[in-house]
Amino acid sequence: MTARRAVGLVSTHARRLSTKNEVTSRLLERLRRNPELSDEDAKAELRWMRQAAPSPPGDGRLRAMVERRSRGEPLQYILGDTDFGPLTILCRPPTLIPRPETAHVFTRLAEAIGAHRPSPALRIADLCTGTGCIPLLLRHLLGPGAHLTGFDLSPEAIALAKENARALDLDAGFHELDVFNPSAAEQIVQHSGGRVGVLVSNPPYIPLHEYRALPASVRSYEDPRALLGDPSGGEGDGLAFYRCIAGLLPDVLQSEEEMNRDGLGGLPRVAVEIGAEQGRAVEQILRSGPGGVVRRTEVWTDQHGRDRAVVGWASFVGSHARAHSHLVCDRMQGD
Ligand SMILES: C[S@@+](CC[C@H](N)C(=O)[O-])C[C@H]1O[C@@H](n2cnc3c(N)ncnc32)[C@H](O)[C@@H]1O
Repeated sequence: MTARRAVGLVSTHARRLSTKNEVTSRLLERLRRNPELSDEDAKAELRWMRQAAPSPPGDGRLRAMVERRSRGEPLQYILGDTDFGPLTILCRPPTLIPRPETAHVFTRLAEAIGAHRPSPALRIADLCTGTGCIPLLLRHLLGPGAHLTGFDLSPEAIALAKENARALDLDAGFHELDVFNPSAAEQIVQHSGGRVGVLVSNPPYIPLHEYRALPASVRSYEDPRALLGDPSGGEGDGLAFYRCIAGLLPDVLQSEEEMNRDGLGGLPRVAVEIGAEQGRAVEQILRSGPGGVVRRTEVWTDQHGRDRAVVGWASFVGSHARAHSHLVCDRMQGD
């Protein structure tokens, strides 16, 4: 190579670098118009968007993504997926974006159930399933011993949950259902192939006054029906879904005797995600539900130490199983 050609190559490279730097600063400037993003966030998110849109620079895809993010659209909708524990879950508006706190508490539930090695098959139903993230996580962690069925009011959510099951090659059924429908219990049992051993849910639980204070990116893009705990739209306490779930338990859960016969006695029978201040009230709702199904409850915290789930057992016994499940979880957290 001649000296002149080498100099030419170096200066072409330098020109490209400076163009790339200019483009990066322009994109970062654009992203910073989103008041929810710090400088650090903006830099990290630009990196992720670049990885998601690697095709020819200048084709406009990256710029379009930055533009959407600058207007406040959640990053997960722009990228099209999000991590949920070990799984990658497809996301599409308006279906709620799965949160890491949800993955945390339901991973702990899988550990508590897994300590009993479900065999024969254990049926689990998930109400208000959204993207299907909870049943898919449980199926992934528990293996083929668990039969998972998810239910949601929204046809968009059910379509997305089915897509997620296909993309992850995980076996789970998904069905449209309004949990307040008088025939909900019947439909849950029918679609699940019988009464279930465990009922789980991350239902809408935000009272209207708290909903109004949520960031614009949540209110403008995620389905209000996925968040508002009072389906009537009124100024209630946000706990309507927990009352509904407590009312479904006697008609949906297998009896503890049947569970004992199958070697599944002492298992948690209901697990619901909650808002950080709702633990005591939801424990009370589940324990005073019809049929006296739930005898004992615990509030579980998330990875930030905030109350995040109420878990209920149908018997007072099971302290051995509980101690064991804590051991498994502690080990997992220490890994
Ligand atoms: C908080 S989101 C939870 C989604 C998902 N389980 C998760 O953890 O990401 C609540 C879900 O409840 C659904 N939903 C709202 N009202 C419902 C109803 N009456 N019956 C069944 N599902 C309902 C919404 O469509 C939404 O997908």
